[in-house]
Amino acid sequence: MNEAATPPVPRHIAIIMDGNGRWAQQRGWPRIKGHEAGADSVRAVVRACRDAGVEYLTLYAFSVENWVRPRDEIGGLMRLLQYFLERNEDELHEHEIRLRVIGRLKDLPAPVRQRLRKVEKATQAYTRGNLILALSYGGRTELVDATRKIAAKVEAGKLKAKSVTEETISAHLYAPDVPDPDLMVRTSGEMRLSNFLLWQLSYAELYVTDVLWPDFREADLQAAINAYGQRHRRYGAVS
Ligand code: FPP
Repeated sequence: MNEAATPPVPRHIAIIMDGNGRWAQQRGWPRIKGHEAGADSVRAVVRACRDAGVEYLTLYAFSVENWVRPRDEIGGLMRLLQYFLERNEDELHEHEIRLRVIGRLKDLPAPVRQRLRKVEKATQAYTRGNLILALSYGGRTELVDATRKIAAKVEAGKLKAKSVTEETISAHLYAPDVPDPDLMVRTSGEMRLSNFLLWQLSYAELYVTDVLWPDFREADLQAAINAYGQRHRRYGAVS
């Protein structure tokens, strides 16, 4: 690369938003306060992605494993999500950002599901940016769901087992047209994938920061993008 060239910006960033509970605990506050502050980080990061030219942003907002959390925390998170959608729909329209959801949506409370569907539909024509929320999402669950769809086609005689390729699997994921993430960011220091986008993250660059999600704002996103710009992606080749 020539010295003066502008470093590349990831086309798709995926984020594990971790540390809300710890952030609240450090202040002696209930965990939901951490999630509320985390929702402000979501707003800030969506704006920062738009300004930086990132086309796709996927946020791990609720995993299939999160259903074992205390009932009041789950209820609080679902209310927060509902409130977030009500409060931010106008901004999605203003900036022509398409909202999409990946995960087992049928597990979500009906009012949240309906609101998500409504906003997805209202923003589906937008192409300037994509905000993808992973909700009741698990990477293994997604692969199970994809395998079921493929197996059903084989059973119906519409597809031959030996014709199944990597492209077939990609084509049966929750959002098959979305390109794989280039950069995966995880906040609050844990070095784990936690069942997030297991198929899609195969070649992603990983960036882990100790910053807790409620403290993660524009400058932190820019630091992650800058670090990505210094990486040399080889996809298994020699160079
Ligand atoms: C992980 O922190 C965070 C979550 C399980 C939920 C993420 C939710 C938000 C950021 C709130 C709103 C989201 C949207 C899309 C509006 P944790 O609770 O596991 O933190 P800990 O590891 O410190 O306990």
